[in-house]
Amino acid sequence: MSALTQDTIDRYTQIAVEASKRGSKVLLEHWGKLKQIKEKSTAGDLVTEADHLSEECVLNYLREKCPNHTILSEESGLHAVEGAEFIWAVDPLDGTTNYTHQVPIVAVSIALIYKGNPIVGVVYNPFVEEMFVAGENRGAYLNDQPITVSDVETLGKSILATGFAYDRRDTPDNNYAEFCYLTSQTQGVRRMGSAALDLAYVACGRFDGFWERGLNVWDIAAGTLLVREAGGVVSSYENGPIDLNSGRILATNGLIHVDTSKTLQKVHDTLPPILFDS
Ligand code: IPD
Ligand code: CA
Ligand code: CA
Repeated sequence: MSALTQDTIDRYTQIAVEASKRGSKVLLEHWGKLKQIKEKSTAGDLVTEADHLSEECVLNYLREKCPNHTILSEESGLHAVEGAEFIWAVDPLDGTTNYTHQVPIVAVSIALIYKGNPIVGVVYNPFVEEMFVAGENRGAYLNDQPITVSDVETLGKSILATGFAYDRRDTPDNNYAEFCYLTSQTQGVRRMGSAALDLAYVACGRFDGFWERGLNVWDIAAGTLLVREAGGVVSSYENGPIDLNSGRILATNGLIHVDTSKTLQKVHDTLPPILFDS
């Protein structure tokens, strides 16, 4: 627990909500009218003018409201403020590949991190007008209605989500084996293309669990708090404490957490060591 007051959490939550709306307005305006689609780190890792312009709107607003806070944002990186206790983690467009193909599964994801833990998390998909909001010890909400994780108790009755990082062509640790095996153990594994929304869907009980590797803080910080505040569990693959910088995350309704963690490890242990970095 961060020992911040509820008023402080609520105030920052409202700032995150407003920032996400401002970014989302840009996403709606540029929908279907993109002029620039570029590749970043690797083939398939796309960035568009919508990513940049959404980021500009979000960051301008956060800077105006919280000039003493550091900001870490996907497209422009770290904007460090000396002595800052708070860090905003911003993904101005989570689901860029979907966006470029006009698949409306995208979100603006904004988290506020204090002493290493997310204390505010907002994931907003403007195309279906779904605003997921969480504040530390304040619960999780979808469009102002409280949400909770599902009550599915077994992997066999579960539906999970995952994704594949942009380096999947270059590393054998590409999540394909985990995806295949868990597909055979569950009612299905979805690949929506937005990690922030995957986590938000776990929080509201649509998915029972989500795992992925190769993610960044801005992809998962807001969703991590959503899942926790909705009663779920977020951890490393091995069911240890989550390290938001590790790239790996396992988030579930809690009831299937141990089984999912064990299954991920079983797949890892079954495959030849050469397939994995660690
Ligand atoms: C990506 C999405 C996707 C996940 C990738 C992320 P982006 O974020 O969250 O679901 O599989 O690993 O990088 O690039 O659309 O912001
Ligand atoms: Ca992202
Ligand atoms: Ca992004």
